[in-house]
Amino acid sequence: MNQIRAVIVGAGAISENHLKAMQVSSRTELLAVADLDQQRLDRCAAAYSVRTYRDYKAMIRQERPDVVVITLPHFLHKEAVIWCAEQGCHVLVEKPMAMNVQECREMNEAAARNGVILAVGHMQHYFPSMIRAREILRSGRLGKVIMMNDRRWCNYFHPDRPAWFLERAKSGGGIVVNLGSHSLDKLQWLTDSRVDKVKASLTYYGDRGDVEGSANLFLETTEGVAASVSLCGYGQLYLNETEFLLTGGQLKLLGSDQLRIYDGHSGEYEAVDTSDLPETFTAQWEDMLNAVQHSSELGISAEYGQSITAVVEAIYRSHATGREQAVTN
Ligand SMILES: NC(=O)c1ccc[n+]([C@@H]2O[C@H](COP(=O)([O-])OP(=O)(O)OC[C@H]3O[C@@H](n4cnc5c(N)ncnc54)[C@H](O)[C@@H]3O)[C@@H](O)[C@H]2O)c1
Repeated sequence: MNQIRAVIVGAGAISENHLKAMQVSSRTELLAVADLDQQRLDRCAAAYSVRTYRDYKAMIRQERPDVVVITLPHFLHKEAVIWCAEQGCHVLVEKPMAMNVQECREMNEAAARNGVILAVGHMQHYFPSMIRAREILRSGRLGKVIMMNDRRWCNYFHPDRPAWFLERAKSGGGIVVNLGSHSLDKLQWLTDSRVDKVKASLTYYGDRGDVEGSANLFLETTEGVAASVSLCGYGQLYLNETEFLLTGGQLKLLGSDQLRIYDGHSGEYEAVDTSDLPETFTAQWEDMLNAVQHSSELGISAEYGQSITAVVEAIYRSHATGREQAVTN
């Protein structure tokens, strides 16, 4: 398999990042895109010279791709992933993997039954800042990780957000599902552990939809790392900062692209150079291609995707019961 034949299902906001990554890949033949929205299809056809379809099943029957990238609203992930797996296609589905853990299980079973790879687009694993942060944490040079403090504030209910994100029945939830999954991912991926306990307090004051707009989370991992996560989306000043405190220093992630280190001696944070590392979506797509062509281990397996959805589910359970919850996969 010299060239991987690929298609995309869903031509919305995030599809653009995947299309660009495929376009620059010499190992990829980008065939077609499916969406219900004709204007979006026309834009893709003009920008990427792809064939377009309104019906993704017709596209896959006609094009017979090796890999399908699914960038649909959350409530459609399960059905689309299982159907594509049954056609023998490898799948990269956007995060969050699905609406709940039961759906993730069914998707993982379908992938195993059909012998295909299922990946979940936790693309932060390929942020240059995250790759370097993981190297530093794993090297042990800053000692043992004690805690993570994460703050993500924004206007979650901004007018440009597609309506389905704010309907619980279609999105599975609000700021927790959507932005919180990135915070949970940072905690699990960078500390090489899994969240196993959660205490959560949410609010529902958004002026659109029926999803939560804030969450205060206290989490603990299997390695004994404690984390506090503050998510607030009622038009706050934008903030996206994560600090890891260790026995011998500190790391700070700022937004998607900056990393700072305090080594316990210098008296202040210093910038860490990440300029040698590749662009995020290109690196994610290369990882997917390596898994398909060379059976290499994926940084974004669907077992991992399920572990994030399991924490999200425990967060909603904790808010509903007012009690700490164990995470169950
Ligand atoms: N990794 C990230 O940082 C990141 C960022 C944004 C979005 N996402 C994820 O990507 C996914 C898509 O989000 P988005 O922001 O692109 O949403 P979006 O609403 O912009 O795009 C979704 C597209 O799916 C199309 N669609 C809906 N039903 C369809 C169907 N039955 N067949 C074909 N097309 C259909 C819609 O017309 C729309 O164009 C979600 O899982 C979201 O959480 C991830």
